[in-house]
Amino acid sequence: MGARYAVFGHPVAHSLSPRIHAEFARQVGIAMEYVAIDATAEDFAAAISSFAAVGGLGANVTLPHKERALALCAHASERARRAGAANTLIREGNEWIGDNTDGIGLVHDLTERRRLDLRGRRVLLLGAGGAARGVAPALLDAGIAELWIVNRTADKADALSDALGEPDRVHTRYPADLPDIGAFDMIINATSAGRDSGGLALPFSLAGTRCLAVDLSYGEAAISFLAWAGAAGCEHRFDGLGMLVEQAAESFARWHGQRPDTDPVFAMLSAKADALQTAD
Ligand code: ATR
Repeated sequence: MGARYAVFGHPVAHSLSPRIHAEFARQVGIAMEYVAIDATAEDFAAAISSFAAVGGLGANVTLPHKERALALCAHASERARRAGAANTLIREGNEWIGDNTDGIGLVHDLTERRRLDLRGRRVLLLGAGGAARGVAPALLDAGIAELWIVNRTADKADALSDALGEPDRVHTRYPADLPDIGAFDMIINATSAGRDSGGLALPFSLAGTRCLAVDLSYGEAAISFLAWAGAAGCEHRFDGLGMLVEQAAESFARWHGQRPDTDPVFAMLSAKADALQTAD
């Protein structure tokens, strides 16, 4: 039996992380076990302790536990603290160290795989929950010019803006202001509206020329936003599959000291997603 790793979430049965990490491990020749563990909010802390007790060396954490995971950590990276959430746990001695690779995963996907330049962009971030908090600091670090945060619950947008601490670049607006805040070079859907409900009602005026639209969800949950982006004329439209693979590679590198090649894994998962959609 190799070293033990896991992803914790609720629900987690459909997580692609076990498949992604198995491919990475095969690629670099590491023997490791990586399983999905379903834990409710009440059970999460106990499930993490049990995992450590049986020799767990690292974990990914997904919805809805990323904030909770950070709270369990003895230490955390600056990017995890800025995000207020951890998606990666590393066992050191008897303690968990927290990190957050979501933001760098998104930026790698866009700048390295898609070869897009984020610098100078006027960016609209829809949502202010865990997913939005995870990516906002990395976008600012990537050199965007402006970040406009719009969330259904305005207080959460203001709290995120305050936490980012960059009043010159970060602004908040109400959803009702969307028709009047101009056009953007990049629009990120970090809401769960595509997973939980019928999606968002957005004006086409938001999409600037050569606009990049990204949904942080992947598969079916991203369809309604990306369909809107297509109708609005956004030049580039991506779901969150690339980000998922890149954040996994960053977590893998934290655990094993080697960054795997993400291209073959992304190609394999994209081909599967296309095949599923064709089968529908
Ligand atoms: P995640 O970790 O995916 O970000 P979350 O922390 O629960 O999940 O955040 C969900 C985000 O989607 C929030 O910004 C939420 O808005 P509220 O803060 O007002 O709850 C947003 N969201 C969910 N359903 C939505 C809908 N139907 N319309 C607009 N925003 C929605």
